[in-house]
Amino acid sequence: MLYFFGNWRMNKTKSEITQFFVDFELNLAANENKQIIILPPFCYLDYTKNATNSMTTPEKKNMISFGAQFSNIGSVSSADFRTGQITPPQLKDCSAEYIMVGNAGCKEYFGITNETIGFQVNDALNSQMKVVLCVGEKIAEREAGQTQAVLDSQITAALNGLTAAQSTNVFVVYEPIWAIGTGKTCSPTDFAEAADIIYNKLNALTFSNIPILYGGSINTTTVTASSYIQATPRCYGVLVGAGSYLGERFANIINAT
Ligand code: PGA
Repeated sequence: MLYFFGNWRMNKTKSEITQFFVDFELNLAANENKQIIILPPFCYLDYTKNATNSMTTPEKKNMISFGAQFSNIGSVSSADFRTGQITPPQLKDCSAEYIMVGNAGCKEYFGITNETIGFQVNDALNSQMKVVLCVGEKIAEREAGQTQAVLDSQITAALNGLTAAQSTNVFVVYEPIWAIGTGKTCSPTDFAEAADIIYNKLNALTFSNIPILYGGSINTTTVTASSYIQATPRCYGVLVGAGSYLGERFANIINAT
């Protein structure tokens, strides 16, 4: 199975979501070996799920699941004092099967630590949700030769206390933070090296079953999903941000793998 996560960030209104699925269905090639997970803003989770009911090809509709973008979300135990946040059970109640945690943007803008990410992973798994854990090193860390140490410590903190049963509900995405806004590019070979580091760490923790994905600047032309998926047998899919905002573009990214 190949996985395609569409991180819509803070984009879209109801009418744009409706239009997305019209364009998406028109362009998507049905494939039972591909799983698509749309991550809309929280408030549109149910609306997004309902919008797929307008799709007339069951084989295409069945490829789609939904997830939430986990940011500075409150845990279940903090429900009474974190105004403005939301809990995993509430997200699940609104159609989210997956939760993305540790996304580069969240770490940068909300100052979320590895330890907090560990709590978020735990909270999500205890709420019977699937976790999409993003890891990646900053440019200074990469240039100081700390790639392995950073990835190892992010994975260790996030998966602290994970059981074998829980590990079947976890995905790890390599996000090359060092290549965002720096003019640098993470080549498929760079990704393959990072995927080896991630795999070795997961293996050491007895979680070699956890699928590894790539996320960063995927588009239809210069940075293709297929080049990363083919770069290493360890890759089970991609996380797409900007390339997932338009139905036709996201469908074409998925088709071309
Ligand atoms: P991007 O986002 O495809 O816009 O680079 C990827 C991500 O959300 O990590």
